[in-house]
Amino acid sequence: MASQKDENIQVVGHERFGFDSRAETKTLRSLYLSPSANKDLDANSQNQEYGSQSTYDKASNTVKYTTLANFPPVRLLPNSERKRILVTGGAGFVGSHLVDRLMLLGHEVTVLDNFFTGSRTTVSHWVGHPNFELVRHDVVEPFLIEVDQIYHLACPASPPHYQYNAVKTLKTSFQGTLNMLGLAKRTKARFLISSTSEVYGDPEEHPQREDYWGHVNCIGPRACYDEGKRVAESLTYGYSRQDGVEVRVARIFNTFGPRMNPYDGRVVSNFIIQALKGEDMTVYGDGSQTRSFQYVHDLVDGLILLMNSDEERPVNLGNQDEFTILEFAEAVRDIVEKVQKEKGNPLAKRVNIIHKEIPQDDPQRRRPDTTRAKETLQWQPQWSVRQGVEEMVRYYYTQIEEKKL
Ligand SMILES: NC(=O)c1ccc[n+]([C@@H]2O[C@H](COP(=O)([O-])OP(=O)(O)OC[C@H]3O[C@@H](n4cnc5c(N)ncnc54)[C@H](O)[C@@H]3O)[C@@H](O)[C@H]2O)c1
Repeated sequence: MASQKDENIQVVGHERFGFDSRAETKTLRSLYLSPSANKDLDANSQNQEYGSQSTYDKASNTVKYTTLANFPPVRLLPNSERKRILVTGGAGFVGSHLVDRLMLLGHEVTVLDNFFTGSRTTVSHWVGHPNFELVRHDVVEPFLIEVDQIYHLACPASPPHYQYNAVKTLKTSFQGTLNMLGLAKRTKARFLISSTSEVYGDPEEHPQREDYWGHVNCIGPRACYDEGKRVAESLTYGYSRQDGVEVRVARIFNTFGPRMNPYDGRVVSNFIIQALKGEDMTVYGDGSQTRSFQYVHDLVDGLILLMNSDEERPVNLGNQDEFTILEFAEAVRDIVEKVQKEKGNPLAKRVNIIHKEIPQDDPQRRRPDTTRAKETLQWQPQWSVRQGVEEMVRYYYTQIEEKKL
């Protein structure tokens, strides 16, 4: 985990395939980190006002919301380069970071979201901007709009959320994708779907390449999501073959970062919140199962590159560094301790790591083979897991301080 270069990453994105997706990390950070936490990392931060939509007053335990008059500067693009982009699920964790990037790049962005797991607050800093529109809408219902590109992300992604209403998850995956593909066909928009490593199920091949067909239990508790995404991919290629829709399929592996819902049972957020609150950290099973984690800015880079490339086959986007869950828990504990010390607020004692029974169908190993992304997109993650975790710890630390968690 410590082997990767850990210098400060100042710019994310690429100029490739005729599409420039570069943005300064400090500008992106100002959109999710509070001004004080941002100042800690960048003493010259000029962008404080964009991140301060709410002010917490400890004495009265109230929050003051301010309507922002200022927006971060967005690039001025000529009409020929400015795209009308629809992001379904744009108020969710991944979607909101994608929206930040597309907005900063100067495009016109419409977010479609039913706020099942997403929240208006993740994109509220853009509400009122002339290039931005936020629409509450469920993708299982048709939606008409004129667009050039569709990033179709709408779907709950964490097990408690997608299992909460399994039939609805299947409906969102099938009917929602059908509707958005229909829209892409009518408008001749390019369509990208956020698929998942879960299409490989509990894999018998390691690492997983895109040509591996998977090992999925079609009646288990995770089936609504895994099979939902598999049929969504089938639909996508159906529209490509039959109707000539330009399609892109991103198979996303575990991703983490600021704005992730801290209570939806995903391992990174679980560990960080437990450690920050001084609670026992829960490892399911003996912790020997492995995972790989990518930081959200890397994923957004990959999604934008894929959308603008010529690659029509599915592409894995993930970090190849593989850790056992136990190693990962220990690393998170160290990073939390480091940040707490820096803030002058160290915990009195080390938190414990405890073990609980492993849930059904929990995959033993999961690691992407990202050769295709490297070869066709020249993409590879640039954030080490340690850098990403540290960024996320600072984000949750401030959220807890401001009583938002
Ligand atoms: N985060 C990951 O590690 C990961 C891994 C693999 C794939 N993905 C995929 O990426 C996408 C985004 O995941 P995320 O982590 O941001 O999850 P998320 O739950 O934070 O975001 C999903 C968004 O979709 C919205 N949504 C759900 N059902 C909808 C519906 N019927 N109509 C309209 N909006 C709806 C939610 O309100 C939310 O804003 C999902 O498609 C997910 O399957 C994510």
